[in-house]
Amino acid sequence: MGYDTGVIRPEMRDADVRLRAGGASSADLRRMKKGLLALHTLELMAVNIYRCQIARHPSALNRALIAAMCNEMTHLQDFQVKLYEYGWRPSPLRWVYGLAGSVLGLGSRLMGEKTALKMGVWVETKAVRHYSELLGRIAWDEETRSIIEKNQADEYGHVERWMAFLRGGE
Ligand SMILES: [Fe+2]
Ligand SMILES: [Fe+2]
Repeated sequence: MGYDTGVIRPEMRDADVRLRAGGASSADLRRMKKGLLALHTLELMAVNIYRCQIARHPSALNRALIAAMCNEMTHLQDFQVKLYEYGWRPSPLRWVYGLAGSVLGLGSRLMGEKTALKMGVWVETKAVRHYSELLGRIAWDEETRSIIEKNQADEYGHVERWMAFLRGGE
């Protein structure tokens, strides 16, 4: 896909923030709003999963979890900004997803590293598929589309990384 997943927080300039509400048809806007709300709440869940999976001892896995948490925080910010640029707001029920993420993160961590890694693979595989679906059926503006594509590449990178840990390769 050509995106550098080694960059976990791409540079964002002041001028990158734009008001985007004009131009799209109302049917497209409706689909985009639904898509952005879904992405925003799922990223909040992802942030909390990794945040709660991080244990205190220094290890390669814990380092990777901190990096993944940071990357998901970037995704969360990306979609939060996009919502406001279009004149929308995050869902008032997003805390439910946040709580679900914390429960999944903490629960999987308590069940051991393997379970935590499998949880990561499961969630990220679902995310990659969800991203594909939203990219396929919604007429995004070009900049939003490239952010979604970059974030999807990141999720794919997360799947690969957790699989490598499961194979014992990292
Ligand atoms: Fe993400
Ligand atoms: Fe991810």
